[in-house]
Amino acid sequence: MNPKNKVTCIITGATSGIGLESAIQLATRGFFIIGIGRNDDRCIRAFQKVKQHTEFRDPVFLNCDLSDQKQIKDLSEIICDYTDRVDVMINNAAGIFLTRKLDAQGIEMSWSVNYLSHFLLTGLLLKKLKNWNNSKIINLSSIAHENSSINFSDVSFEENFNGMKSYRQSKLAMLMWTYILADKLNKSGTSVNAVHPGIIRTRLLSNNGVFSPLLNFGLKIVGKNVTKGASNVARIADIPDDKNISGKYFYESKIQESSLNSMDKKNQIRLWLLSEQMSGFKY
Ligand SMILES: NC(=O)c1ccc[n+]([C@@H]2O[C@H](COP(=O)([O-])OP(=O)(O)OC[C@H]3O[C@@H](n4cnc5c(N)ncnc54)[C@H](OP(=O)(O)O)[C@@H]3O)[C@@H](O)[C@H]2O)c1
Repeated sequence: MNPKNKVTCIITGATSGIGLESAIQLATRGFFIIGIGRNDDRCIRAFQKVKQHTEFRDPVFLNCDLSDQKQIKDLSEIICDYTDRVDVMINNAAGIFLTRKLDAQGIEMSWSVNYLSHFLLTGLLLKKLKNWNNSKIINLSSIAHENSSINFSDVSFEENFNGMKSYRQSKLAMLMWTYILADKLNKSGTSVNAVHPGIIRTRLLSNNGVFSPLLNFGLKIVGKNVTKGASNVARIADIPDDKNISGKYFYESKIQESSLNSMDKKNQIRLWLLSEQMSGFKY
């Protein structure tokens, strides 16, 4: 993809960490960035940072709490006002919720924000945007998907909730959705890939009240620099269209096989049907 074509890139969770740094790296290469955040002040600060690196068109930052399906539907309308063309969509926003929290619909937060919101937003934009040829969908998964399964009878973990288990489930769902969406969009000109960006120093554990600083400090000790994590994401946006790479899992910069559970076709279909039901949206 030639950034000189003034391509548009949507990034969810663009106010912090890997999302913000990806926005900066892609703005530097000429992309028009539409960043999504959940807090006005953080959106303004991210806007200012990305603007400093902008080559072509000032970024736009839109406030949307991805745990609210009504806000996601409104957001998709607003995005259509800003652009009739989406070339890269980076489904990045997420959190780790160590205590059980519910979203506006009564769905557990990790499932809602990390996975279902992206299923819905991507679906809404796929349907509405006309110029979707040679576009790329990049889904943030994680090595955390390994040793996980989808708890189909209770994805919200009404029973036996465990925050890390729920996070791992949401990252497995991102991967399984990547595979089935890539199959569905085969030959459409839109590629869909997933990435584990590396263990990266970010604020991923910030949703845990007074324990957040300590938990994020742990990530700081073991994690790599955010520039590295973002370059593993932004690189996928630069894969030439004629390479036809779709339905793949990138472990940092290399394509790798994901867990056996993630490749189970029957469960991928089950996940798709469940997601349609929980989001109230059919692609
Ligand atoms: N860091 C790692 O080691 C690692 C490893 C593997 C995968 N990942 C994946 O990388 C992605 C980025 O995470 P990160 O590490 O960069 O974490 P981060 O710094 O906490 O960034 C998460 C982003 O998501 C946003 N967000 C959270 N809840 C939201 C909501 N309800 N509505 C809208 N936006 C919301 C956050 O907004 P605020 O700025 O308002 O908080 C922030 O911009 C995630 O998908 C994560 O699972 C990270």
